Amino acid sequence: MVYVTRRAHFSASHRLFNPAFSDEKNEAVFDKCNNVNGHGHNYRLEVTVKGIPDPETGYVIDLKVLAGLLEREIIDKVDHRHLNYDVDFLRGIIPTAENVAVIFWRILEPHILSGTLHSVKLYESDNNFVEYLGEPVAIAGGGEVWREAAS
Ligand code: NI
Repeated sequence: MVYVTRRAHFSASHRLFNPAFSDEKNEAVFDKCNNVNGHGHNYRLEVTVKGIPDPETGYVIDLKVLAGLLEREIIDKVDHRHLNYDVDFLRGIIPTAENVAVIFWRILEPHILSGTLHSVKLYESDNNFVEYLGEPVAIAGGGEVWREAAS
């Protein structure tokens, strides 16, 4: 098995809070990330596809195709946006890196036609990142669409 990774970047703002919590609890749980007007990150996204290289092309997946897919399905929709308010597919969820990575997986997976999606890594900074490998998870605060998809 060979693992092929494409990296992409986007800048976005978000606010971490749970509307079911009191202000005090949001402050205690999310601290600075609960800032009412949000805060920004320069995100790095790494998407890995695994497979056997095609005998005729030597490719697991054409990286141009993977790059275009990330650009079209993800980057175009989240870059320079506020993740809480501006992105349809994130509406109603708490936009932690964990939740966002899971949703990115669900968006990308049906479009991977060559090889198999292996991992979605989402970096909020050089030191903080999450990795999702596709195991079933339900998303806290998830909107109806995504709750259904998780069950
Ligand atoms: Ni943040």
